[in-house]
Amino acid sequence: MSMSRRDALKGIVTGSAAILAAAAGGSSLLAQAGDAPKTEPPRPSAKYEVKPLRFDPAKLSGISEKLIVSHHDNNYAAAVKNLNATEAQLAQVNKDTPGFVVGGIKMHELMYSNSIILHEHYFDNLGGNGKITPKVEKALSEAFAGSWEQQFRQAGASLGGGSGWMILYYNLHSGQLRNYWSNNHTLALGFGVPLLVMDMYEHAYQMDYGAAHAKYIDAFFTNVNWEEVEKRYDKALALAKALKG
Ligand SMILES: [Fe+2]
Repeated sequence: MSMSRRDALKGIVTGSAAILAAAAGGSSLLAQAGDAPKTEPPRPSAKYEVKPLRFDPAKLSGISEKLIVSHHDNNYAAAVKNLNATEAQLAQVNKDTPGFVVGGIKMHELMYSNSIILHEHYFDNLGGNGKITPKVEKALSEAFAGSWEQQFRQAGASLGGGSGWMILYYNLHSGQLRNYWSNNHTLALGFGVPLLVMDMYEHAYQMDYGAAHAKYIDAFFTNVNWEEVEKRYDKALALAKALKG
């Protein structure tokens, strides 16, 4: 996510809060319209924490420490912070809360939840040597007739200059390995296990490569931790088997 896009998102959140405050004459509309009866116990709200990077950020190849630390500490950490704030708002929702308020909070809940899930998968599938494991290579070769990497790179590159995610999924509905394109955090496969995640938001490469997103994709592939991908694949196969039973 570029600075401008992140600022725009902040603006949406801040703007929503301002509207709520103004509509309530200085106090939150959530609080005004949604004051819970005193007998209603407070609803629990989840608390999410930032996961540290599992690799030495100074040792990636072609992706600078400055970029990856900024990405982790700013973009990803902001999603965690914002989901916690969204959870706190959700805890105030009751049966009298206006639908447009509920809708806005639920939109942010999904957006920040997916941002956290995908960023954590992204960082955790980096820090490797880029050498695909024989098991995953065989599975991808069979599923994509030998053109998996070309298809993944091509679809990922189509997101260049914008925002989104490129994800190799195990589709639990069809039982197939598939590459899925997503141009925002909320456009995601309904029932699947993400195996390899590539962040295509500009914040993932702009600091090192400017608009040259193809060079970032090359660098991404040299740092993939395929052992992590294989672990996810094994878990997906076990899950698929359990779901059949
Ligand atoms: Fe990101």
